[in-house]
Order: sequence, then C-alpha cells, then structure tokens
Amino acid sequence: MPRKSTLRSFKNRDVISVRDFSKGDIQHVLKVAKTFKARPHPDLLKGTILASLFFEPSTRTRFSFESAMERLGGSVISLADAKSSSSSKGESLSDSIRIVEKYCDVIVMRHPLEGSARLAAEVSKNPVLNGGDGANQHPTQTFLDLFSIHETQKKLAGLHVALVGDLKYGRTTHSLAYALALFGARLYFIAPQSLQMPDHVMRDLEKIKAKYSFHTHPEPFMPKLDIFYATRIQKERFPDPLEYEKVEGIYVITKKLLKKVKKNFRILHPLPRVNEINYEVDNTPYAYYFEQANNGLYVRQALLALVMGKV
Ligand code: CP
Repeated sequence: MPRKSTLRSFKNRDVISVRDFSKGDIQHVLKVAKTFKARPHPDLLKGTILASLFFEPSTRTRFSFESAMERLGGSVISLADAKSSSSSKGESLSDSIRIVEKYCDVIVMRHPLEGSARLAAEVSKNPVLNGGDGANQHPTQTFLDLFSIHETQKKLAGLHVALVGDLKYGRTTHSLAYALALFGARLYFIAPQSLQMPDHVMRDLEKIKAKYSFHTHPEPFMPKLDIFYATRIQKERFPDPLEYEKVEGIYVITKKLLKKVKKNFRILHPLPRVNEINYEVDNTPYAYYFEQANNGLYVRQALLALVMGKV
C-alpha cells in the first residue's frame, strides 16, 4: 500500500529500509540535513556513542557516519574488519549485537547477508542504521541521494531519472527507485538484461504505481533526463566470473555522451567508481558525485540526531 505522508517520531527508530518511511518522513530528514549543512552543531550528541560495525568494506558510509558522530560531539567504537571480532570465532550476529548494544547508544552496521540489518534491529534495544545489507538495501545512501537530487534540482516531484548499470546487485538503486517513485519521478532502468531490476523490487514499485521503462542503452534518453544515476557493476556479487566479464565496462560516461543534455542535468554515483565515469567528465558542470558523497555527512548527522531524539 502507498504510505501516507504522516510524520512519525524518529526517536529510537531503526533505519533498515526506505519502505519503512513515508514521504513526509523523507522530507523531514532532508529538511533536518539542510540545517546541518547550513551550520555545525558541535555539542548536540555529546556523550553519545556510535558502534560502527562494518563486516564488508566501506569508505564513504563508515567514515561519514563516524565523522558525523564526532562532529556532533559524540564518540565512536568501531569494527572495520570482521576478522577482528568474535564473529570469526563463530559468534552469531544476534549474540554480537546483544553485547555491542550494551557498549553504545546507536549502531550502524554493514553486513553481507540480506536481512541482517532487520535481524540486528529486532535484537537491539538501541536504534540500528543499515549501512548496506548484501544486495538488498542501503537506505542512508538513499536519503543522501534524495538530498543531493533536491540540492541540484530544487524539487523531487516529477523528475526524469535514469538508473544505470548494475540494477540487479546494486542495492542503492533498489532503495532509490522506490523513494523516487513515491515522489512521482519518471524512471528509466538502463542495464544489460542480465542485470535489470529484480522482480521483488518491481513488485514493490508496481504497488506504488511507479512510472518506469526498461532499456539497454542511455543515448536516446539523454536530452530528457534531469538525473543520471550511474552505478558500478558489483563484481564481488557475481557467482560466476565469466558472467561479470560479459558486462564489464558496458556503460562509460564520456563528454561525448553529454552533448545534448539539459542545463540542469546532473550525474550522481554512490561511488566507488571503477570505469563508469570517464575522468574527463569530472570537470564538467554535470558532475555532482563528489558533492553527493560530501552530502552524506549532513544526512547522516541528521539521521543520528533524529534517532537519538535530539531534533
Ligand atoms: N556509497 C557507498 O556505500 O560507498 P562505500 O562502499 O565506500 O561505503
């Protein structure tokens, strides 16, 4: 069912899937993030401890969460390598969470298993923020993507947005497609057939009457687009390396591709990039991916402050 635009309190809420948030909730997060971008709040979370549990590699999500907590006056206890925790001795995730929650006030976790964040949230009395669970969801990335889209377009309603690349394993596109559809965006899913949007995502999009179409090449749509959301082909999630080789380097954004785009057109990418965006594009007015990563800091500050009940 489409979610109502009523605003629920954020205090002690988990952030596991974007589907758990109404349009009104999303707008509220973006509004709070805007205030953090406008000015620092150095003592807001003084005395608060974030447990940062990353069982998979991360640069942006981990560092921006940890930086966000430090910049709000709180502190961080961190696991950056699964091998250095007792999970390597066979401890279950639920037992680990039961222990870690006693040492902190809020948890951010990235884990390779789909559904692991939901499990952690069920076990933990403290709020859990999903920093990515397998190929499933990456909701805090979605909030920062929406914030970045709003920063560049001054609205979210009715935009033409292409999601390009690995839509099968690219968890950021699953959450983002859903959230954009809530705001009435027209979506273009551009991917090789083997990497198109999974059925379970499409079922959810159907329920909220999303407007979308499937394509294999971006060229015909470039003049219509407001946002081009590029993604990396997720090599590490392919069960068969030969299947990866068939699609490696399939989409590369070059200056030539940008010849007919609109003035407000912007390229976003959750990063890291491998070869999806040619370096020559970085200096064009259309590149927004580094600012997008920077926005992660403000959005994660907002989420931490909200779930701790401080704003
Ligand atoms: N966008 C993103 O999730 O980047 P990291 O994998 O570096 O956290």
